[in-house]
Amino acid sequence: MNPSTSESQQRERLKTVVHASADAASALVAADIAALIRQNTAAGRPTVLGLATGSTPVRLYRELIRLHREEKLSFKKVITFNLDEYHGLPRTHPESYWRFMHEQLFNHLDLPAASINVPDGTVPRADVFASCRVYEEKIRAAGGLDLQVLGIGRTGHIGFNEPGSGRDSRTRLVTLDALTRRDAARDFLGEANVPRHAITMGVGTILDAKRIVLLAWGEAKARVVADAVEQPPSDALPASFLQGHAAVAFHVDQAAAGELTRVRDPWLVGTVTWTPAVARRAVVWLSQQVKKPVLKLLEEDYSEHGMADLLTEQGPAYGLNIRIFNEIQHTITGWPGGKPGADDTHRPERAAPHPKRVVVFSPEPSDDVLGMGGTLRRLVDQGHNVTVAYQTSGNLGVPDEEATMAAELVLELDRASAAFENPGAKFAREVRRQLGAKSAFDGDTPEIRQLKGILRRGEARASLQACGVDAARARFLDLPFYERGRYRQFQIGDADVAALVTLLREVKPHQIFATGRAADPSSVPAVCFEILRRALTQTSGDPWRAACRLWLYRGPDRNWAPAEIEMAVPFSPRELTQKIQAIYHHKSQRSQSPVFAAGLHEAWQQAEHHNRAIALSYDALGLAEYEAIEAFERDPA
Ligand code: GLP
Repeated sequence: MNPSTSESQQRERLKTVVHASADAASALVAADIAALIRQNTAAGRPTVLGLATGSTPVRLYRELIRLHREEKLSFKKVITFNLDEYHGLPRTHPESYWRFMHEQLFNHLDLPAASINVPDGTVPRADVFASCRVYEEKIRAAGGLDLQVLGIGRTGHIGFNEPGSGRDSRTRLVTLDALTRRDAARDFLGEANVPRHAITMGVGTILDAKRIVLLAWGEAKARVVADAVEQPPSDALPASFLQGHAAVAFHVDQAAAGELTRVRDPWLVGTVTWTPAVARRAVVWLSQQVKKPVLKLLEEDYSEHGMADLLTEQGPAYGLNIRIFNEIQHTITGWPGGKPGADDTHRPERAAPHPKRVVVFSPEPSDDVLGMGGTLRRLVDQGHNVTVAYQTSGNLGVPDEEATMAAELVLELDRASAAFENPGAKFAREVRRQLGAKSAFDGDTPEIRQLKGILRRGEARASLQACGVDAARARFLDLPFYERGRYRQFQIGDADVAALVTLLREVKPHQIFATGRAADPSSVPAVCFEILRRALTQTSGDPWRAACRLWLYRGPDRNWAPAEIEMAVPFSPRELTQKIQAIYHHKSQRSQSPVFAAGLHEAWQQAEHHNRAIALSYDALGLAEYEAIEAFERDPA
């Protein structure tokens, strides 16, 4: 145990600081680095920084750039060493770490070019060994790393030290893990384009740094952070070796802290303030732990699992069981837009008005039906005025082969219909030419992206029809941040927010459905949600807002714990089949989704698994047994 920590952190084997947000954490670490640089510069010493890539440190780098511009922080006496680089990519490749570091940081500072060191990914295989030795020697000659910044991969890697990397490993060529390559697939516009090898500082190289800070944001990192912090060190999770370092700290946001024992099961490690939400979480947890339905939990189950004080405060057990059971029972409704004319005291949604004006925001086409295809059908069947707003075109997610097929189809049509004027054929011919001229690493031209966007619009319309929603209810916003950007490097602009504000003011919805917090804070849904947040802030004074509720659904990358669910919409076996068939229409997305559980490669499989899993978890708590459930939480905004 880390001696400086409180009782609730007793399982944590290294210093872990949970921050309110990634921005707050980044600002703090940036201030720390600035102080170090200023101190060393004043003493006439250089500052040697070890730097990381990935989406995680981007906020830190933006803050360092701000400190340089606005607070005269000079990098003239700084020397940098990057952790790693893909092997075999030219420096100019959009995903090379060399280019990433220049674009995200170096180009904006007064750091001398000669002080920048990034492992050279372009050296031939035969020379890699020697080149790695030179890299290590250079670090030593510079006086060693004063401070190393790290992110963490979902495999538990630091740098590219994948599971199996030893504590004493040094800078070397490594083979990338399958999960790491899959996580990078979107950046590289396809898994096939992701390099198989990389050069990385070793675990031993990293541990030689005088100080180490590891940053992690978002729920996708929560599991691996908790394991690195709470499990004994092992090469199965290289980040856990940081436990042996004398001056290491993890800086995480709330979501990335979510699996730490003190956050997830606080009753196991200390005294808890039993708010209604915490009590519900604890009772659900207990029911799952002892594998008994809620109504069968006994006094001793509570006391044997660190929850005796909950009983003292809110017991006896049976009364508490009934209260929590009823709370969960009341989340279940077949009327996601409210049941007209019914007493709605214990229903998740208001009965009036009926019908409601509803806006469903879908970050990319297909998120809507994956997350809430069954609920969409219900809303329409129950008479509500539903608008489905696709925030981005989704064209980055379309493989070239699909675009080629579409272009060929138009050209075939053109040949078959010689009697008709066909201006589309000229466009298709041009796109086909551009696709032919494209190399694996090139981004798409605007024309290719346009064709890919058209494909996804068609799929979205067909999918909506299959959910019983008139395709005329679809609105395609094609937000500019996405059209300009690449994955993980999106920048929100005023026009993105304005597009949502316009739509919201036009519809004046009573209900908004959107994907809320995303597992990966740099993902498209996360950026789309931030844009919605800003649009809601801008419209906060509008009269329609008083009657508007925001419901959050989730993509298949995020699991629901039953205690988080505030509205559970169950559906029948037939409705589940209809939903799956609706997902099939997103043909360009086949085999495109990241695998989130063993064997589930297709998006429809993931959605089905999810909806069944929620139903099973309700059943296990002792509630009714349904085929499938779509879940929502209510955002207080
Ligand atoms: C890559 C890098 C790591 C980084 C990890 C996480 O694998 N080699 O240094 O920590 O990605 O990436 P992200 O910060 O985008 O989640």
